[in-house]
Amino acid sequence: MSLFNVYPLFDITPVKAKDVYVFDEKGTKYLDLYGGHAVISIGHSHPEYVNSISEQVSKIGFYSNSIQNPLQVKLALTLGKLSKCEAYQLFLCNSGAEANENALKLASFHTGKKKVIAFKNSFHGRTSAAVAATDNPKIIAPLNAQQEVEFIELGDLVSVEKALVKNDVCAVIIEIIQGIGGLDESTTEFYQGLSKLCKKYNSLLIVDEVQSGFGRTGDFFAFQKHNITPDIISMAKGMGNGFPIGGILIHPNIEASLGLLGTTFGGNHLACAASLAVLNVLESENLMQNAKDVSRYFKEKAKSLSNLKSVKGRGLMLGLEFDFNVSELRKKLIFEHHIFTGSAKNPDVLRILPPLTIQKHHIDVLFKALEKELLDLSGFKNLTGLKEN
Ligand SMILES: Cc1ncc(COP(=O)(O)O)c(C=O)c1O
Repeated sequence: MSLFNVYPLFDITPVKAKDVYVFDEKGTKYLDLYGGHAVISIGHSHPEYVNSISEQVSKIGFYSNSIQNPLQVKLALTLGKLSKCEAYQLFLCNSGAEANENALKLASFHTGKKKVIAFKNSFHGRTSAAVAATDNPKIIAPLNAQQEVEFIELGDLVSVEKALVKNDVCAVIIEIIQGIGGLDESTTEFYQGLSKLCKKYNSLLIVDEVQSGFGRTGDFFAFQKHNITPDIISMAKGMGNGFPIGGILIHPNIEASLGLLGTTFGGNHLACAASLAVLNVLESENLMQNAKDVSRYFKEKAKSLSNLKSVKGRGLMLGLEFDFNVSELRKKLIFEHHIFTGSAKNPDVLRILPPLTIQKHHIDVLFKALEKELLDLSGFKNLTGLKEN
């Protein structure tokens, strides 16, 4: 049997990983500034994480959601305390798309409405409602296109109100900092205005923190900088440090009823053990503060780079926007300097999404490599007389 070929793959086979490093089968060591797509939060193979999962699997790894699972209760309490979202209720699932799918479904149940507002350049996952709220027609099948979604320019409150006024919108879904879209973030005034409009027209505000949550921006959630109170917060990636787990935090105004949502695997014992270890390490190693400190250092260093248009993002959800397409640069970073980085919808943006344990000396390694490649690039342009871009 062959694999269904949907991923463009780099010819690298990781077999081992430790903290911020990944090793391939030939023993080559790569600096991981991509975190497996913003997933690795507390570092690869953290000993507390390995112990927590190993101990749990030796006791009980899984049982269905028809029995008591005290680990889910412990996870809700620990997560509430560290995120300062104690009043919210927790529903657990297995991925980011599933978190958003449940968030949208819950908004529709709660309001009795069905239209969704999303934003240009958004990404919310590949399940039915989540993909319909994703601004990428290439991944929306005719089946998904049946959902009613209106896409609005990020920051455009006037158009949001025009769409809400018809009173048929169940939810506005938004990434506070866009991930694959290219790290754009609007103003506090916009997010607060959005929150007010949602309340005025009885629509739920869903903030998609799948990528930005769990400390990546230096705050537990990215929305917290803007002082808003979302109705639903979706989470995944950093939540399990690689173990598949997602979830939504649900405002106390939204009442649960038996059978409203459900899942077989969501919130299983192993997933809870993984996420509890993540929360413990985030707190004990002060990783949110580290994200802020290393981010400040990164932004300072970036000032000296040539060909740079802007540094985007916050904490360790960062992007370097150059004045050229970065795909060749990214390949050189991987194959010549052994550094993993990420790409974005904007082909000029290099994304930096490292484990939150990253240190300043790792950032130095990146900038040394970038300086060399940018120098080579400008030499090449001078030789050939090529115009930039
Ligand atoms: C902001 C955002 N939402 C949702 C998703 C979907 O998550 P998953 O791939 O776990 O379904 C992603 C994944 O990249 C994401 O970045």
